[in-house]
Amino acid sequence: MSSTKILDHPLVDCHLTVLRNKATTPGEFRQSIRRLSMLLAYSATAEMKTTEYPIETPIQKMHGRQLVERVGLIPILRAGIAMVEPMLDLIPTAEVWHLGLYRDETTATPVHYYSKLPSNSPVELAFVLDPMLATGGSACMAFQTLMEWGVKNIKMLAIIAAPEGIEKIQQDFPQVDVHCCVVDKNLNDQKYIVPGLGDAGDRIFNTTG
Ligand code: PRP
Ligand code: URA
Repeated sequence: MSSTKILDHPLVDCHLTVLRNKATTPGEFRQSIRRLSMLLAYSATAEMKTTEYPIETPIQKMHGRQLVERVGLIPILRAGIAMVEPMLDLIPTAEVWHLGLYRDETTATPVHYYSKLPSNSPVELAFVLDPMLATGGSACMAFQTLMEWGVKNIKMLAIIAAPEGIEKIQQDFPQVDVHCCVVDKNLNDQKYIVPGLGDAGDRIFNTTG
C-alpha cells in the first residue's frame, strides 16, 4: 500500500500559515512554496541510492558519495512549476519533464493538454510536483502517464493534501508514496481543499483577478 509521509515540523507550520493567508502577496507565496518544497524534498529523497567515489580534500584522500539513479522532476502545470527550482537546487542533475493538466471547472476532473515525454528511455525515479492534491485526479493521471513511459519508482510531493486525494492514490496507485506538509480536513462542493489556500496556480502566477 502507498505510504503517506506527513511532515511534522515547526518551520512547516509557519511557512504553511503564510501560504494559507489570503493577505500573502504572490511574491511571498512563491517564496513559501520554495521553502516548503525544500523541506518536502528532504523527506522525499531520503531513500535515494548513492555510490562511493574517490575525492581528495586539501588534507587527504577519501571516499565521498554521489547519486546513482536517473532522476526526473515532473511538475504538473501550472502550479507544480514553482516547486521545480528548489528541487533542482538539491538535485542539479535531475531532468525536468512537464505535464500539462487542468481541472475542468464544472466536473473537477483533469484534462490533459501537454506532455513532451519521449517514447522511450524513462527515468528511474520520478518526483511528481504539485502543491495541491485535492481529489487526486490530476496526480493519478500523471502517474498513469509516467507508468506508460516505463517509470518504475514514482513519488508524489504535495504541499497540501486532502484525505480524498490520498485515499484515491492508495486505491489506484498503491506503489506511489506521497510526501506532504499537511493533510487538511476535506474538499468543499467545488472540490477545493478546506481550509486550503485557494487556487495555487492563480496565487503563484498572480492571475486571481
Ligand atoms: C490544481 C492543482 C492540481 C489540481 C489538484 O491545478 O495545482 O494540479 O488542481 O486537483 P485534483 O487533485 O482534484 O486533480 P488546476 O487544475 O487548478 O490548474 P492550474 O495549476 O493550471 O491552475
Ligand atoms: N486546486 C487548487 O489549486 N486548490 C484546491 O484547493 C484544489 C485544487
